[in-house]
Amino acid sequence: MLRPMSASQGPTLRELAVQALSSVERGYDLLAPKFDHTPYRTPDPVLHAVTRVLAELGPFGRGLDLCCGTGAGLGVLREVCRERVTGVDFSAGMLAVGRGCVQGAQGVDWVRADARALPFRDAFDLVVSFGAFGHFLPAERPGLFAQVRSVLAPGGRFAFPVAAPARPGSLGYWTLLGFDTSMRVRNALWRPRFVMYYRDFRLADVRAELARAGFQVDLYALEELGRRPDGSPRCRLLVATAH
Ligand SMILES: C[S@@+](CC[C@H](N)C(=O)[O-])C[C@H]1O[C@@H](n2cnc3c(N)ncnc32)[C@H](O)[C@@H]1O
Repeated sequence: MLRPMSASQGPTLRELAVQALSSVERGYDLLAPKFDHTPYRTPDPVLHAVTRVLAELGPFGRGLDLCCGTGAGLGVLREVCRERVTGVDFSAGMLAVGRGCVQGAQGVDWVRADARALPFRDAFDLVVSFGAFGHFLPAERPGLFAQVRSVLAPGGRFAFPVAAPARPGSLGYWTLLGFDTSMRVRNALWRPRFVMYYRDFRLADVRAELARAGFQVDLYALEELGRRPDGSPRCRLLVATAH
């Protein structure tokens, strides 16, 4: 789900290094002006594939993009929701960039808050999230899922794409293992921590945690993103329905 960095408009190596030595929140504040030119913004093909599946399940009323960043998922919500949509993120810098772009112009509320303590009283019919779960330690996930459940109306949906795990021994496998290992070393030696681990988000664990939080889980192949040599989808949309 990563795409190449734009050399001319993306962050310099020095900027990335400063960001990586900051907290998650401060790091994204620093990265925000160039975030849309990095591989960390969810690519359009993923957004389009998710929109297709959600359009078949919808339409929905109010939508929330959890950890919205500059608003990649808000475009999806605006396609499939009939009422107002909201983006929530704890980085003021990311929200400021999102507010300033075209898709922030109308019908969107941008809220600064920590996803682990959502400030909403109103219920949403659909919550989506893209590219952010690596910022939560496994021990934080039950609390995060409980927060999402608490802001959903009965029957509401929580949807996010899940990439197939890299095949052991493949380039992708070693790349992610190398990334997570260097993050663990960095976090053992440096404060504040920058929590970002790719390999801690395992589907079986996540399904069990969502079930305990009061969700029924279904998976939909995102066919547009292709299949692996063994025939399994490269990416699926997990749709958790609140009951
Ligand atoms: C990789 S970016 C993804 C942004 C956007 N969803 C996208 O797909 O382009 C991760 C985002 O999660 C946000 N984030 C991380 N931890 C968060 C938390 N505890 N509460 C709210 N936002 C958080 C960061 O500020 C950042 O904007």
